[in-house]
Amino acid sequence: MSLSEQEKQSLVDLANTARQHAYAPYSHYPVGSSVRTKTGRIFTGVNVENAAYPQTMCAERIAIFKAVSEGEKEFEVITVVTDNGGSPCGGCRQVMAEFGLDTIVILADGSGRIVKETTVKELLPEAFTPEHLEKR
Ligand code: THU
Repeated sequence: MSLSEQEKQSLVDLANTARQHAYAPYSHYPVGSSVRTKTGRIFTGVNVENAAYPQTMCAERIAIFKAVSEGEKEFEVITVVTDNGGSPCGGCRQVMAEFGLDTIVILADGSGRIVKETTVKELLPEAFTPEHLEKR
């Protein structure tokens, strides 16, 4: 399925609006994410930090986990919005790869401007995926 520019922008705008709820008192780096499933459902997420720093959870993982916890495991597109158009961390790339290498990933900055459109496969080449655990 192909996404129109308008659909992409609307997913970015949703993530950017969600970003207002980011809980980032330590890094001051609010992140918002949205995912659209292959069935057309949309979930958002924000980063949620913790005084015990490693317990922090990234925005895109929260969006993905919200979707999975509601029965959705196939993603058409994932957006990530940060102040400066930053790229997903390695842990989030691995979580994205779990659910499909062809998912489109859109990165945008705080003004909602799309700075990159890529795929999970491009972000995490030679990923370790569920197939590697089959038929052992
Ligand atoms: N963060 C995300 O939410 N997603 C990423 O892919 C990169 C990092 C968050 C985690 C932390 O709250 C803040 O950004 C600074 O690392």
